[in-house]
Amino acid sequence: MRISVIGCGYLGAVHAAAMAKLGHDVVGIDVDERKIAELKAGRAPFFEPGLPELLTEVQKTGRLTFSTEMADAAGAVVHFVCVGTPQRKGENAADLRFVDAAFTSLAEHLKSGDVVVGKSTVPVGTAARLADEVQAIAPEAVLAWNPEFLREGHAVKDTLTPDRFVYGVPSGAKGEAATAAMDKVYATPLAAGTPRLVVDYATAELVKTAANSFLATKISFINAMAEVCEAAGADVTALADAIGMDERIGRKFLNAGVGFGGGCLPKDIRAFMARAGELGADQALTFLREVDAINMRRRARVVELTRELCGGSLIGKRITVLGAAFKPQSDDVRDSPALSVAAQLQLQGATVTVTDPEALANAKQRFPELSYEPDTKTAIARAHALVLLTEWQEYRELDPAAVGNQVDEKNVLDGRNVLDPGAWRQAGWTYKGIGRP
Ligand code: UDX
Repeated sequence: MRISVIGCGYLGAVHAAAMAKLGHDVVGIDVDERKIAELKAGRAPFFEPGLPELLTEVQKTGRLTFSTEMADAAGAVVHFVCVGTPQRKGENAADLRFVDAAFTSLAEHLKSGDVVVGKSTVPVGTAARLADEVQAIAPEAVLAWNPEFLREGHAVKDTLTPDRFVYGVPSGAKGEAATAAMDKVYATPLAAGTPRLVVDYATAELVKTAANSFLATKISFINAMAEVCEAAGADVTALADAIGMDERIGRKFLNAGVGFGGGCLPKDIRAFMARAGELGADQALTFLREVDAINMRRRARVVELTRELCGGSLIGKRITVLGAAFKPQSDDVRDSPALSVAAQLQLQGATVTVTDPEALANAKQRFPELSYEPDTKTAIARAHALVLLTEWQEYRELDPAAVGNQVDEKNVLDGRNVLDPGAWRQAGWTYKGIGRP
């Protein structure tokens, strides 16, 4: 099929390459000239495992092109809208300006029979509004909403072999046409058994926000348990293992630590609360306020624990923060708990050095006042305390004996509970985890 992908960020760039891999002819479109230049050269504009290899592979086939001109979408019959929906400045609500601009500019190039597929995470009700707009400009085109559940760091796999497809479509012939078009696009994963659910627009939009809210709630639940464990002298990691063995609960997303960040979970739960308020259903989501509060409290607690580890004051202490990305296998620092803690430590008088295998360039842009050191060994040298905040494999595997010879004081705060407390203590370290005795 001939496909256009509007917006070539984490979602769109991977989607464009994955659709070409599935055998389609794809044009990726973005207003950002730098991003398009990189993609045209076969380079990923951000760190995502597997994406450079996928880009190289599909570009050889000639099935993947990139452009900054929306007019180049005119040759396609299915158009995926993959632009961002960040948090509005000073508000909880989502900022839909990129979605609106993409639709306005795409609409004038639509032909009879074209299918527009929204993938961006939007407040419920957006698809119905956009369907009216599409209808007014291109009455024979149809809109579908097909939310994306990809995780950064696993984006290629999540796109090519997702857990499920959700199609939000209108009723009647238009809905059937949209369903048939998406079935054709996803023929390969569907044939391999990926389930698909066909629902209305509002349900499709809500599936995405509900899924992210559930994940955020699961993380905040275990972080709340960590608070109680800290007060009671219990171990939250053993608690998570034990409750996670109940299949109804499951062990995934029960890792207590510095909490969740990134470009999705924090802003999505806030936008969901804001939208529920507009719909008169705000009471239903007041628990998400608590989820958000527990999550933010973790950051303050990690700063507090670091102060305790440093003997009661951060002033003049050299602290090495291991990790800047919001999670490993990503260079994304949007709402990164690691950077938020690093900045707080510095504001409270510490001299902070941040290290990360992939995210330092992005981190520098966001927090230019912090010091950055790409080499782990150099970053660690002469520290009074190590604070592990993003669980890259390299940090999980640090040898406490070897690292002990490089620092000035053997204090370690394991903000993701991934180090072996016994091994570190044995090597003479004062070890502190999250919700662990
Ligand atoms: C998330 C959803 O998982 C994905 O389905 C959706 O499409 C986009 O948002 P992503 O933001 O890439 O994906 O990251 P995710 O793997 O969900 O992690 C989010 C945050 O939660 C990270 O900061 C991570 O460190 C944190 N986390 C995750 C925990 O603190 N504990 C856990 O047990 C799991």
